[in-house]
Amino acid sequence: MKRLLPMLAIFSLFLAGCGREDLSVLRPQGPVAQGQYDLIKLSISIMLVVLVIVFAISAYVIIKFRRRPEHTEMPEQVEGNFKLEVIWTVIPLILVLVLAVPTVKEVFAFGEDHANDKNAIQVKVNAHQYWWEFEYPQFGITTAQDLIIPTNKKIAFELKTSDVIHSFWVPSLSGKLDTNPDGTLNRFSFSAPKEGVYRGKCAELCGPSHGFMEFKVKSVSPESFETWKAAMKAPMVAIEDKALAETFKNQCLTCHAVGDQGTAVGPNLTGVGSRESVASILLNSETNDEGNPVLENMKEWLHDPQLVKPGNKMPSPKDLGLTDAEIDGIAEYLANYKLEY
Ligand code: CUA
Repeated sequence: MKRLLPMLAIFSLFLAGCGREDLSVLRPQGPVAQGQYDLIKLSISIMLVVLVIVFAISAYVIIKFRRRPEHTEMPEQVEGNFKLEVIWTVIPLILVLVLAVPTVKEVFAFGEDHANDKNAIQVKVNAHQYWWEFEYPQFGITTAQDLIIPTNKKIAFELKTSDVIHSFWVPSLSGKLDTNPDGTLNRFSFSAPKEGVYRGKCAELCGPSHGFMEFKVKSVSPESFETWKAAMKAPMVAIEDKALAETFKNQCLTCHAVGDQGTAVGPNLTGVGSRESVASILLNSETNDEGNPVLENMKEWLHDPQLVKPGNKMPSPKDLGLTDAEIDGIAEYLANYKLEY
């Protein structure tokens, strides 16, 4: 009992983790996740029925035919029973069929190719160690980390990676699918009926910062989506300080694209101030007294990227020769680079 209590406490902690509304397959928020959740319920129900029946029969046999004091001789030996063997072969066959038919249907529906679907919004997902790139080829837009989608619209994904295997997973909207280094493109689709923010995660161990490789799906009204698209295509907001603008151009825009400027080797930073995470790490508003977690996190990140997310490919601004004041200035600029939509 002494050991049992702490173990139960730890177990309930794990269960508490499952309760996170935005990262749970048990609270489906879209049709794809709902179909998969129904499959989970079906298979667990069947397993429970089998478990209860098998346990009941076992208990009955163990108790009814237990050895008693008057049992002194070898009991009757039985070998084979045709009828029983047929029964316990046919029942599992039926159960497997009941499980297989909806599962296969769901799997084919999940992997259906919508690459040529004119009514779907095409999104090319490119996974990197350790961030997510989202390209909208129909609109000529590329962004990172926050995947903005309109509600009730089919989003057709094409998944690839620029380095190792990652896995794209938004538990409350869909199942997970790998991104493959061999060039195989994985395709699937989902839609989000309700407006909201859904957490996504990399679900494949991909390096030291795998655990930080999060992203967000933001489902917004169709009007907001149009506003966002226009805002993404607007020219880059200029940096007032001339010297800082020059530094930003020479040191940051060689890898990052912002508005109509720069090169997108690293994450596109247009509107990075309105994202839900900095460097794919969720914002923690408690770390900051002034109520600007984006700025605090941005500073922390820019001052020592390897400390925040080990193994990432961002060169340290300090190693590039930027002063603390310049780093703070750029952090301030980026944190305030917000998009209205
Ligand atoms: Cu990418 Cu784990």
